[in-house]
Amino acid sequence: MSKYLVTGGCGFIGSNFILHLLAKNPSARVINLDKLTYAGNPENLSDVSGDDRYRFVQGDICDAALVSELMPEADYVVHFAAETHVDRSLMEPGSFIQTDVFGTYTLLEAARQSPRLKRFLHVSTDEVYGEVLPTDAASTETDPFLPRSPYSASKAGGEMQCRAYVSTYELPVVIARPANNVGPRQHIEKFVPLCTTNALCDEPLPIYGDGQQVRDRLFVEDHCEALDLLLHEGEPGEAYNIGADNQRTNLEVAEFILDLLEKPRSLIRFVEDRAGHDRGYYLNSGKIRSLGWSPSHDFKATIEKTVDWYLQNPLWWEPVRDARFAEYYQQQYGKRLAEARPYTG
Ligand SMILES: NC(=O)c1ccc[n+]([C@@H]2O[C@H](COP(=O)([O-])OP(=O)(O)OC[C@H]3O[C@@H](n4cnc5c(N)ncnc54)[C@H](O)[C@@H]3O)[C@@H](O)[C@H]2O)c1
Repeated sequence: MSKYLVTGGCGFIGSNFILHLLAKNPSARVINLDKLTYAGNPENLSDVSGDDRYRFVQGDICDAALVSELMPEADYVVHFAAETHVDRSLMEPGSFIQTDVFGTYTLLEAARQSPRLKRFLHVSTDEVYGEVLPTDAASTETDPFLPRSPYSASKAGGEMQCRAYVSTYELPVVIARPANNVGPRQHIEKFVPLCTTNALCDEPLPIYGDGQQVRDRLFVEDHCEALDLLLHEGEPGEAYNIGADNQRTNLEVAEFILDLLEKPRSLIRFVEDRAGHDRGYYLNSGKIRSLGWSPSHDFKATIEKTVDWYLQNPLWWEPVRDARFAEYYQQQYGKRLAEARPYTG
């Protein structure tokens, strides 16, 4: 029986990972430490809330006393908890540094006092490499970090702490650098769910700038498989890119979603770009592929499965479109939509 301390398990990827783990491994025990920020939704784990293999602890990864209490129980740590939305990091960078850097340090400090711990899997991001253009070589794990947003800089800071704890304290940390995830239960403020739910509500789809920013869309279940593999096969001290080679522009993604839902492309609006918006990310994922992982979902399957989930689950996302979300949406897009350029095909 292995015990997993999962941080941020009520969020998008963390909840998918916990469901994946408990379905695949009947003897696994999971403690989910989550603060329940606006991004954490306990509904994401309603299927396992009564399972005696699962325990939820509401709390902050920056709370050293709480983290020290939970850590000795864990064979594995899977660290997802973070402030994750780049747009919000431009509005309030401090909370990103607090959770993504200081929170990671707090977990590492407790982990180094825990002789039982076999692996600390730190979930970083492809954004630590900074902007990569189609004419550039795809990022490899030894490339320098050139983060350009407060989000990616805070993730890079957390990852640097991990690396220091490997060299200094021989902590068995493995680092994952995944591409943009999509799939069930992603907060509706993120690009694919925002386009999908706005389309379902016949509302405009705000697209930053010219919509030519390129992202690799990794289906969350493929990502969970990769993380599971790294927990057991990842080398301590090593980082692993996790990409699906499903690169498309934001505009192509929005058009594809509208076509799937049989909604007019005229719902697209081009709005003022975000400051410092990276034009693209490209990962070379040869290292994790050499361990035997490859994604099972191409671009089409990734978006189709995701859109279908939102179509089938209005009772999940309609309550999230609440007054708090409306306030955020107005702040982020209100003026932009008032000054938007229409879609011209
Ligand atoms: N979503 C993506 O496309 C993507 C891509 C690459 C990397 N990542 C990384 O994967 C991880 C998970 O991303 P996600 O999209 O699931 O995020 P999310 O925003 O959906 O969920 C984050 C979770 O962390 C919790 N949390 C936030 N601050 C906390 C704190 N101080 N203490 C305890 N819990 C806290 C929230 O309540 C929430 O449940 C993050 O580390 C993110 O940087 C995400």
